[in-house]
Amino acid sequence: MYMKIDWEKLGFQFMPTKSNIRFTWKDGKWSSGRLCSDTDITMSIAANCLHYGQAMFEGLKAFACEDGKVRVFRPDANSRRLNTTTSYLLMPEVPEEMFLDAVRTVVKDNIDYVPPYGTGGSLYIRPVMVGTAATIGIAPSNEYEFIILVVPVGPYYKGGIKPVRALINDDYDRAAPNGTGHIKIAGNYAASLMPTKVAKDRGFDVALFLDAAKHEYVEEFGTSNFAGITKDGTYVTPDSSSILCSITNDSLIQTAEDLGIKVERRKIHKSELPEFVEVGACGTAVVITPVSEIVHKDNVFRYGEEMGPVLRKLYDRLTGIQVGEQPDTHHWLIEI
Ligand code: PLP
Ligand code: COI
Repeated sequence: MYMKIDWEKLGFQFMPTKSNIRFTWKDGKWSSGRLCSDTDITMSIAANCLHYGQAMFEGLKAFACEDGKVRVFRPDANSRRLNTTTSYLLMPEVPEEMFLDAVRTVVKDNIDYVPPYGTGGSLYIRPVMVGTAATIGIAPSNEYEFIILVVPVGPYYKGGIKPVRALINDDYDRAAPNGTGHIKIAGNYAASLMPTKVAKDRGFDVALFLDAAKHEYVEEFGTSNFAGITKDGTYVTPDSSSILCSITNDSLIQTAEDLGIKVERRKIHKSELPEFVEVGACGTAVVITPVSEIVHKDNVFRYGEEMGPVLRKLYDRLTGIQVGEQPDTHHWLIEI
């Protein structure tokens, strides 16, 4: 144990851990990975990522399971999504084997930072890639750093899975229809800082975005995908080319099908918001966070102060699989 951590009180904040793993792309190839205890990096003042935003990241988690083993949830899916992002940003591909080995190595080296089974915490794994070559004319970098850092985390929003309130604000958009909303680039999050601040200043926890072209259809939250449960118990989630393809949402859809819950992935018109009986935000960091209220202009839609029964069933099953209490029938977990 390297420092005393109050596992039950963990939130979602950075803290230094034993190590991170780093790779450098130079002369058209990746270096081998090196474990570093340093949490700083040095780069040119003209580095591409600082000026032109060649910066992307991923997010996944490792869990201490009931049988004492540590397992990572669906790293192969994050590897695929990472390469969708790097390909769009003209960054180098990370071969899946290199990614999975790096995840295994860094989690193993930081095993003392994996929150113990039963605390509700997990080890958040954050891969990040940045273009580092000095670039003054706009062009892709020819040098990159790929780093995977790890941080023990608890709930993303204060109060655990306490419901959050969401604001739809037509003054702001997250991502254009043919833009970069479907990939995990740093710029998408920069674009959501102001709408999130405005929402927070007005007493909300999170911003919910509509489609940027018409402001007619529900897209996603700044941190996570949208899922609504209809009166007849159907799990409905938006189909859009400008939202992130959430691995949690994909897992929930599969889990819902396993539990005999009907699933629809389709466009959700904003006029349907009052029809849902439960709404949840889903993602690696937020898991499934219930949404108690969505406000849009003068309309207030309420979904209850507790997680509803359908989302609860899905939450219990998914989190049960992640810590080995439920069978991992889809082979989502990779043992460290
Ligand atoms: N949507 C956005 C904007 C996100 O930042 C995230 C988090 O990664 C998600 C959705 C959920 O994706 P995942 O479940 O793969 O973490
Ligand atoms: C994640 O869930 O992994 C994310 O990247 C979302 C971010 C709000 C922390």
